[in-house]
Amino acid sequence: MSKKLTLGLFGFGVVGQGLYDIIKTKKLNLEIKRFAIKNPEKKRTLPLDLFTTKADDLLDDPEINTIVELIDDAEAAFEIVSKALKTGKNVVSANKKMIANHLEELVDIQQAYGTSLLYEGAVCGSIPIIRNLEEYYDNELLHSVSGIFNGSSNYILSKIFNEHLDYDTALKHAQNLGFAETDPTLDVGGFDAKFKLAIVASHAYGLYVQPSNILNIGIDKLSDYDVRFAREKKYKIKLVPTAKEIGNERVILYVIPKFVTEKSILYAVENEYNGVVVQAAFADQQFFYGKGAGGHPTGSAVLSDITALRYDYRYEYKKHLAATQLVHSNNHKITVYLRYNDEAVIEKLNFIKVSERFYAREFKYVIGDINLESLIANKELLAADDSFVVEVD
Ligand code: HSE
Repeated sequence: MSKKLTLGLFGFGVVGQGLYDIIKTKKLNLEIKRFAIKNPEKKRTLPLDLFTTKADDLLDDPEINTIVELIDDAEAAFEIVSKALKTGKNVVSANKKMIANHLEELVDIQQAYGTSLLYEGAVCGSIPIIRNLEEYYDNELLHSVSGIFNGSSNYILSKIFNEHLDYDTALKHAQNLGFAETDPTLDVGGFDAKFKLAIVASHAYGLYVQPSNILNIGIDKLSDYDVRFAREKKYKIKLVPTAKEIGNERVILYVIPKFVTEKSILYAVENEYNGVVVQAAFADQQFFYGKGAGGHPTGSAVLSDITALRYDYRYEYKKHLAATQLVHSNNHKITVYLRYNDEAVIEKLNFIKVSERFYAREFKYVIGDINLESLIANKELLAADDSFVVEVD
């Protein structure tokens, strides 16, 4: 028998509204009792007495047995989610930053209080990757999990490559369509993809890695030179997070733009769509494709978590508990294209091997092998407007 859920919903933005639209079309054994919102002045599509600005009106309500957290502020979300879990309420959240930054603590709280936190909507919108990593790939050795995890960056890159739109206009569109974060630096700087990658790493490899220890290079420094370079070689550029297991010992995690050829399964993933490529020992390559952003696609993942709570579903974090031998490491060589201006940058980066160099007055690049550790140590240098890094396969 499924349990009746009485929900308290935090946040009524793009995803909250999307979830509400879906729930009202369905006959499910659940009811949203109250919404907690930040801004009482904003026009709402529902009766005002359903809304409150006080978190405790929901958290202290004994009738509410399930909290759905869909707010923007990661630290406020952590307070809400941890209090709910500690007071016996199960929680669904789509807050990737909050989950990635506090994952280990949240796992401990769930274990200590016997409550459940589900977050499928936090990673790749509508794609059910967390539950698959947790359940389906329980005993399968995963060589790598990679793909396109940020809808906004992919939307921007698609508009630039396919429709010749300029970067700022494409970003505005992504914001207007509700794909981008309130602070779009999180999207285009590769942070959002990195939070999702950290969550994926915990379910794929049982590792809790602080996002601050993972390299993220985004698409925000992309220039016309880079686009032209890619087009001439018939490449597209995609923002690709990678989790890779090396020799049964180490897991490498990084987010970086990547040149992809027509042969890559990611080549045709466009606009706000995401794609997750799982390379497994026995199943071989598998691909998950679907909308990674937007109210209804993300709302559908949140609803799937809510309905799973009717049967007390919980993540077991078995791969972590299995005392895995795997450790996170940044000691790994990748091949990159680096557009730069100042020769000192090249000196500092300490390339292991340079295979190609190009100099013109306005446009210089090198292609070569470099250690991830060196990219991390020199991230400040790479943040300059006149440099851009792309991984070459
Ligand atoms: N800003 C995110 C994206 C929303 O563009 O993918 C979905 O997590």
